[in-house]
Amino acid sequence: MSILERLKSSLQRDGAGSTLAKFRAAIVDHCFDSYYGLDTCAMAGLEDLTITSSSREHGVKYQAARVLVLRKLFQILMPLFPSNSVIVDFGCGKGRVLLVGMEFPFKEVKGVEFAKELCATANNNIARYKAKKTLQTPCAAIEADAATYRIAADENVFFYYNPFDEVLMAKTVENIITSARFQPRKIHIVYLNPKHHGVMDSRSELSLIQDSHIWGNRFRVYTNQPGVRE
Ligand SMILES: C[S@@+](CC[C@H](N)C(=O)[O-])C[C@H]1O[C@@H](n2cnc3c(N)ncnc32)[C@H](O)[C@@H]1O
Repeated sequence: MSILERLKSSLQRDGAGSTLAKFRAAIVDHCFDSYYGLDTCAMAGLEDLTITSSSREHGVKYQAARVLVLRKLFQILMPLFPSNSVIVDFGCGKGRVLLVGMEFPFKEVKGVEFAKELCATANNNIARYKAKKTLQTPCAAIEADAATYRIAADENVFFYYNPFDEVLMAKTVENIITSARFQPRKIHIVYLNPKHHGVMDSRSELSLIQDSHIWGNRFRVYTNQPGVRE
């Protein structure tokens, strides 16, 4: 579809206000890359990447969350998280969530990515962004399958931007719950574009504390302790 055709269909489907917001968000993403010398915008299909894990068939292609949406999301959610929180982005791709995450007061920012090339790009992006913005937060992308990633005892905020199907969502959520059972702590799960939220909803250990959207981008937040529904 050409840009004009996409514009026309967005105007018809979402109206002028929402189309303008989307257009602005796309421009900001491109400026983010060009100003800081990053590579986060270009999508990547999993078929072209080096992935040794058998989870490949469950994965979703690389497409980054919008910078403006992520900034707004972290502004909203940061007050919910305990101080010294460690965030993990499951399926971090080229690391955009990690870059925006470093702008906020996390103790550490981590990403798990099973595609070798994306993980290398994420670590290049992190080095450039840290240098240009003189950020100190420890941050790294780890080449691993999210399904078998060993969750550390200090990791307490888990982020998903629609990285995989229901099967892998269930596996990783199980790992988070098990980790919190053996090393008791408050955890938060942030799910942007929550296609498979039934996985979390079906777990009695989790409470939904937010179900909202930012400029049409839906997100849900869960915690393992009883919370107030908003
Ligand atoms: C929709 S993209 C999200 C990228 C990133 N979180 C962001 O918002 O910018 C999904 C990413 O998940 C990765 N992925 C899919 N399955 C995975 C798995 N089992 N383990 C680790 N990464 C995975 C894909 O390679 C892709 O980069």
